[in-house]
This record gives sequence, C-alpha cells and structure tokens, in this order.
Amino acid sequence: MQNPDVIIIGAGAAGLFCAQAAGHRGRRVLVLDHANKAGKKILMSGGGRCNFTNLHATPADYLCSNRHFVKSALARYTPWDFLALTERHGVAHVEKNPGQLFCRDGARDILDLLLAECASACVEIRLNTGIRSIRPLPDTGFTVETSTGRHQCRSLVIATGGLSIPTMGATGFGYQVAEQFGHSLLPTRAGLVPFTITGTTLSALCKSLSGTAVAGVTARCNGTEFTDDLLFTHRGLSGPVMLQISSFWQAGDSLQLDLLGNGNGLHWLQEQQAQRADSELKTLLGERFTRKLASALLEHFGIDNRPLRQYTPAQLEAIANQLGNWQITPAGTEGYRTAEVTLGGINTDEISSKTMESKKQPGLFFIGEVLDVTGHLGGFNFQWAWASAHAAAEAV
Ligand code: FDA
Repeated sequence: MQNPDVIIIGAGAAGLFCAQAAGHRGRRVLVLDHANKAGKKILMSGGGRCNFTNLHATPADYLCSNRHFVKSALARYTPWDFLALTERHGVAHVEKNPGQLFCRDGARDILDLLLAECASACVEIRLNTGIRSIRPLPDTGFTVETSTGRHQCRSLVIATGGLSIPTMGATGFGYQVAEQFGHSLLPTRAGLVPFTITGTTLSALCKSLSGTAVAGVTARCNGTEFTDDLLFTHRGLSGPVMLQISSFWQAGDSLQLDLLGNGNGLHWLQEQQAQRADSELKTLLGERFTRKLASALLEHFGIDNRPLRQYTPAQLEAIANQLGNWQITPAGTEGYRTAEVTLGGINTDEISSKTMESKKQPGLFFIGEVLDVTGHLGGFNFQWAWASAHAAAEAV
C-alpha cells in the first residue's frame, strides 16, 4: 500500500487496535514497525497471560498531569466493549483479583485477535521498517520516509509506546515526533518497576529471602498506599504492591511498609498475646509469614524472641511499629530494563481528549503509552491502549 489513508507507526497494542478499528470504518490503513514481530509486549504481558482489561477501570486508576484527559476515551470504549470482542473471538479468560481479566490459555490469544481483526479490515502491517523522516504536506497529510519506501497519508497515528523494555523494541521515537511538531513533554521515568535496595537490608534480607512472597503488605509513599503481595528479590523488593507504589516514588523518597497489614498490627499482636501467651513471637510470625522470614525479620530489627507473655505493652507496641511502619529508602528502581510502563510523556494539554489528535498539527494523532497517561497495575494500561486507539480510529 503506497499511499494509504492512514499510517500508524507502532504495531503494539494501541497501534493494532486502532488499525483494525479504522480499517473497519473503510479507511485504507498501513501499520509500520521497526521490530521483526507485531505485539511483542502483548505476548510477554501478565506473565504470558495478558491482563487485557480491568472491569472496574475508572479515570482514577490513571496518572496523568491533566486528570480529566482520560475520561472521554475511557467512557466511549469500556472494558465491557473489549470483553465482548474477546468473547466474539472465543478467547477464554480468568478473573484473578476482582475485575482483572487474564487470558486463560495465553497472551497469544489477544495478539491473534488483533491480527485477525486487522486482516479482516484489510490492514497492511509492514515490519522490519525503520522510519527515516516525517514531513507535513503543504495542504494536508504527511510524507513518511522509511527504510522500505516512501508513503503519503492523510492521517498519521503515532503508537510507538514508551521507553520500557528497550529489548522489546521500545524507543523514544514518539517523543521525537511530538517535539518535531512543537509538542511539550512531561519528564519520563520508569513505572510499575521493582526497587533496588542496598546495604544490610539487601544482604541480610532481600538476597537470603529472594523468591519469598509476603501477602497483604501495605506500601505507602507520598500520600498514596496500596495493599498487595510483596516479593523479596536478589536485587531488592518487587511484587504487585511494590510495582504499584513505584509509580508514586521519586528518587530519594522513603517508603513505609506495613508487613502486618493495614495498620492493625498492634491489635493483632495484642489479641495473640491474650489468646496464646506461651507461644514464641518467632512461632507466631512464622505462621503468618514463613519461618525463615520470621527469623530474618527478628534479626534484622533486633527483636528478642520470647514467649508472647513476656512482652510489655510498650515492647509489643515497638514490635508492631517496627514491622508495621518499616521505613526504607530504596537505592533506585530497576529502570526501563524491567519497568512495565513509562510515566510522563507527551503533554495531554496539547492533544484532543475526544480524538487524540494533536492541537498543533491537524491529521497527527498520538495514542497509547506514548502519551502522559499511565495506569495502575491490573489491566488498566491495555484498557487505555484500546480506548485511546478507538477514539483516534473514529476520527482518522
Ligand atoms: P507498545 O509498547 O505495546 O507498542 C509500541 C510499538 O511501537 C512496538 O511494536 C514497537 O516495536 C514500536 N516502535 C517503537 N519505536 C519504534 C520506531 N522508532 N519505529 C517503528 N516502530 C517503533 N499492561 C496491562 O494492562 N496488563 C498487563 O498484563 C501488562 N503486562 C505487562 C508486562 C510487561 C513485562 C510490560 C513491559 C508491560 C506490561 N503492560 C501491561 C503494559 C502494556 O504492555 C503497555 O501499556 C502497552 O503495551 C502499551 O501499548 P502501546 O501500543 O502504546 O505500546
């Protein structure tokens, strides 16, 4: 297809969804991607099972410097719309946490769905294609110069995603295009990413406990908190609760971790002391965590192991405070190498929230993660990819 109506750069979640939706509206669509395969991130997402949406998605689940920006697109293409599409394709799903839908048989099902929709809408997907330049045409439209030829189009959609996982083809290309057309960028950083820890916390806890998970940990930072599982790793701390809070963490900030669960630790310890005064603290914590973790925590916090009856109320309060109000300052994060998303990106004040069209360059659209829109963990980022792509597809 030499001169299609629409060129979409990026054959990821947002690009493929936009391509099929625009194709079904009768547009001739060409998708270009420099990678050798389409939808690589879809395949690795959700641990290979793609958490493709969240039924409870609301604008409050997204970080964006303009908190109203996501409302229109999310309202016009909902999780139920995407679920209906998966059902039409016979994609079996499982619901993990409430509302979090994963493929039962593997992420391939979502990519196959998108590719089948693209095929039925006569979309051409050209891979292994580097983009050399983009120039606006004098009246309307663009010339796109690529490693495999020159094209002209009326509408150009940038769906090149963020910076996370460069080995999967992530680049800052979308940001360069935005700047070329006079857009401003919000500073980018890795989000939904594991933390790196140094010092004795790393050597005495994280490394020796690597692979150990703790359920129901509350992590707090900068006025936000999440409760979910924590995972010790040989580099530091990961697991859903740490990934969630990482999006609210800035270098130098400390985190507050409540290993005993949402502020009720003292009450729980007092109850246990009343009910089983002869049990040792290590035994009690060993039942709640693992024996190895219980020993490591007592040693790390310098807590004497005794029968519960021997702790005074003040000592019990101190223990609850150590385990329930653990202040930790991460050395950093694992960065874009393992981050699920990129925070920041193209300033949404300069993009139409209804169509995703640039307010600076008619015919130019930005969708998906390249925009300054980042969802929490739980299927929200794919829902944004589908919803923003749908909004643009209605307008190209
Ligand atoms: P995406 O990154 O998907 O696609 C961008 C495309 O542009 C790629 O195909 C790339 O090759 C191409 N491209 C980049 N630069 C280019 C250039 N210069 N020239 C040509 N092409 C270029 N979200 C969720 O909701 N549920 C989940 O389960 C997960 N799980 C998950 C796991 C892991 C490990 C990661 C890294 C991420 C997730 N995510 C997720 C996040 C989700 O994958 C992400 O938000 C979407 O893929 C974003 O879709 P986009 O289409 O915007 O970018």
